[in-house]
Amino acid sequence: GPGTACPEQLSGRRLVVSAGGTHEPIDPVRFIGNRSSGRQGVAIASAAAARGADVVLIAANISPEVLAPLGESTAAPGAGTARIVEAPTALDMEAAVRSEASSADAVVMAAAVADFRPSHPGISKIKKHRLADGAGPATGGADEAVGPAGGPAPIELVANPDILAGLVADPPQPGQLIVGFAAETGDEEGDALAHGAAKARRKGAHLLAVNAVGDGRGFGDVPNAVVVLDPQGAEVARGEGTKAEVAELLLDLIAERLPR
Ligand code: CTP
Ligand code: CA
Repeated sequence: GPGTACPEQLSGRRLVVSAGGTHEPIDPVRFIGNRSSGRQGVAIASAAAARGADVVLIAANISPEVLAPLGESTAAPGAGTARIVEAPTALDMEAAVRSEASSADAVVMAAAVADFRPSHPGISKIKKHRLADGAGPATGGADEAVGPAGGPAPIELVANPDILAGLVADPPQPGQLIVGFAAETGDEEGDALAHGAAKARRKGAHLLAVNAVGDGRGFGDVPNAVVVLDPQGAEVARGEGTKAEVAELLLDLIAERLPR
């Protein structure tokens, strides 16, 4: 059962972790994507399995090398289990997260979910001479990818569902813990932490792990710093280190918030 003597242990707990970056199809061979490797999410899933949890990793386009530690983490004595569900697009991820989360004690959204997707992905490979609206002859010459104005054909986008906000608004399982991630930069409206705090209040997740990017930290396999915020935007904890160390910090916070 979920009750355990050791408070940071996760034996018998069920965790859903999303990781990687979604690819939003433009046509069968092209997509809009992002640079997320999936390393932070895999580190969380691996550390959770090592603590005894039964983990489902919802993986968006994660390479086999990045996924490898997850399998190794379940081999140790006392470890839980790990299962991988592939979810290449935001819509795939929404369906997979919602279905897997229905029996989870905690859901960690570490994936970089594309905010928008092409509204009408081509069912066949788009040719560079095809007009965006499919109407009328190309005006820029047969060699050019042209749109109605004679320039390249625009790609119309539509908003993806906000999976994290959906989990908060309508939890698949009552009482489950919802955790989000946010990579923020400072701009003229405020610093990274101020943006993180505003996002924490907007999203309403129980925990939001914010890291500042653009200063050489946060992306790629480098040490990173996180500040963990509550739904009011107040700081719960902070830490700095490898992705594995950040994972342990988050799992400590998750473990102490799960009902005994
Ligand atoms: N997220 C999600 N579904 C989306 C977009 C984001 O579940 N369609 C989740 C991410 O997995 C992450 C958190 O929301 O845990 C924050 O993502 P982020 O992109 O920083 O937030 P957005 O609300 O999309 O804000 P921004 O305008 O800064 O992109
Ligand atoms: Ca976003």
